[in-house]
Amino acid sequence: MPATIVVGTQWGDEGKGRIIDNLAEKSQMVVRFQGGNNAGHTIVNEAGEFRFHLVPSGILYPQVTAVVGNGVVIDPRVLCQEIDALRARGFDCANLRISGNAHMIMPYHILLDAAHETQLGRRKIGTTRRGIGPAYTDKAARLGIRVQDLADKKILRQKLDTAIGEKNDLLEKVYNSPGVDPFEVMEQYACYADKLSPYIADTSLLIDKTLKRGEQVLFEGAQGTMLDIDHGTYPFVTSSNPIAGAACVGAGVGPTAINEVIGVCKAYTTRVGEGPFPTELGGALGDHFVNKGAEFGTTTGRKRRCGWLDLVVLKYAVRLNGLTGLAITKLDVLSGLDQINVCSMYEYDHDGIRDNFTDFPPHQSMFYHCQPVYQNLPGWKEDISGARKLDDLPVEARDYLNLVSEEAGVPIRIVSVGPGRDEVVEM
Ligand code: GDP
Ligand code: IMO
Ligand code: MG
Repeated sequence: MPATIVVGTQWGDEGKGRIIDNLAEKSQMVVRFQGGNNAGHTIVNEAGEFRFHLVPSGILYPQVTAVVGNGVVIDPRVLCQEIDALRARGFDCANLRISGNAHMIMPYHILLDAAHETQLGRRKIGTTRRGIGPAYTDKAARLGIRVQDLADKKILRQKLDTAIGEKNDLLEKVYNSPGVDPFEVMEQYACYADKLSPYIADTSLLIDKTLKRGEQVLFEGAQGTMLDIDHGTYPFVTSSNPIAGAACVGAGVGPTAINEVIGVCKAYTTRVGEGPFPTELGGALGDHFVNKGAEFGTTTGRKRRCGWLDLVVLKYAVRLNGLTGLAITKLDVLSGLDQINVCSMYEYDHDGIRDNFTDFPPHQSMFYHCQPVYQNLPGWKEDISGARKLDDLPVEARDYLNLVSEEAGVPIRIVSVGPGRDEVVEM
């Protein structure tokens, strides 16, 4: 399986980082293809805990070239910080490569993200306020500044002047907040240019060469299917396409190069930020997941909203991503529950119309009014974090996995039972 895409099947934070870490051991390249430092991917190994926002999760392996592809929006300040932090822990980042075609997050993007959220008030999206939406907006508006622009100070200055003129008008006149100083921004970005220039490369070509040598390349998705700007719970989504199809665009490879697509699915569901979430739980059960699963955002520290596994969402993710395999994470967090619920259908009863949905509803306002219909499964009491093969799991946990795999119509390749590198059951 030389080219494998790994994506989130829910609303992000499924444990993509730890699954990439597992698969990267036998890979030569790991490529981020969308999103930015709204992502927070956690890896736990013998060296401790690592939280990556921009650097691909394969960086910890010496044989891996870690690529930040053209589809990513890069805040160079955050990338420089991540490189420094890794160096301080003994990882030299010599194998990091950054696409010159990737767009940069600029200081005004961050200010605009916050100003827009504040203006929306109760209707806010709950973004990470990292400037993601405004950076992708500028990319589409052809007002963006790319990593390759760092190489030519004259061009950088020209592009900055054009963009900052417009952005300061927006900030000052529409949002009533202070703009940015073009000289300060120029100075800052000139420093980032010095620091990042050794890593800038034609990453599409690098990926092509690696694949032609028959080596293993992983494409690391950020966010999740339900946060996809086209197919997710719009407008409560991110501003990129986290689904598998975007890996080709965001890395610069053709679709015929891809062999496998692995969907990462938490054994329950979490969501950060606003927007509909049919299986959300409050009360003691919600707290069980928050506390046992340590469900606090890796990027913003926000408490994650928690609920039961939603098979309607999972089946939608199977379809949109063309999944060939599943990675089920955090199965250990379900231990200790008397009963486990799994949503297999939605009931819709609104404005005199009644319907049932086993497929994801085509209209957003229908989704808002859907109620989950649950299958109840017996729980298990055992601590399963020591399980390393299927037979080590209690029969109730195996039944749970069988049900998920059958309903999704996709085989499970790996199950994680703890955050550590070795805490997995290979299927
Ligand atoms: P990502 O954004 O999809 O990479 O996921 P995050 O890293 O944001 O969130 C997943 C969290 O769950 C991290 O804190 C992981 O260390 C932790 N985690 C991952 N897999 C497991 C698991 O199997 N069990 C437990 N208890 N924690 C896990
Ligand atoms: P990883 O890769 C979970 C959510 C935000 C917000 C919405 C839009 O760690 O799974 P944005 O800042 O992207 O404009 O915010 O998307 N969001 C995530 N939620 N995990 C993530 O990434 C997320 N990245 C963005 O909370 O609801
Ligand atoms: Mg995360």
